[in-house]
Amino acid sequence: MAKYEITVNAVKQIVEASPDMPLLWVLRDKLKLTGTKYGCGIAQCGSCTVHVEGEPVRSCMLPISAVSGSVTTIEGLADGGNLHPLQTAWIDHDVPQCGYCQSGQIMSAAALLANNRTPTDTDIDEALAGNYCRCGTYIRIRAAVHSAASYYRADEQTETHAIDAENGGAS
Ligand code: FES
Ligand code: FES
Repeated sequence: MAKYEITVNAVKQIVEASPDMPLLWVLRDKLKLTGTKYGCGIAQCGSCTVHVEGEPVRSCMLPISAVSGSVTTIEGLADGGNLHPLQTAWIDHDVPQCGYCQSGQIMSAAALLANNRTPTDTDIDEALAGNYCRCGTYIRIRAAVHSAASYYRADEQTETHAIDAENGGAS
């Protein structure tokens, strides 16, 4: 056992764990962040996806001793009281069925939208290719990702207009 300091959802945490304990179990068992799910345990299903430094990783295969950088889980995706646009879109499109895979799906989608505000169906399918859904919600997942992307684009356009107006110009 050793002590590790990790930042999870912007909060510094000290956890005592064996070096080979996967991040998934640190999150679920030590920190009680149970939104991240265990599916296969061998980096094949994507249900355990979290972000490390904004990149999607399979937490079931990442030992705590190898975690470098801040971790974001589904519990940390919302901005204060405001749901992440993907979470809103997920609700609007009624995406989940059993729900088990969904936090992993959303985390992979969030990493995609952080870098690509105009994803095509192919971009979405590729970014989420490692996230399996036994309930087959893929069509609704795609629609929800497109909705969230539209929300971001509209929001950014509003911001640009506001900045233009402040500078006395028009856009
Ligand atoms: S539980 Fe990690 S990829 Fe399946
Ligand atoms: S919603 Fe059931 S596994 Fe995806």
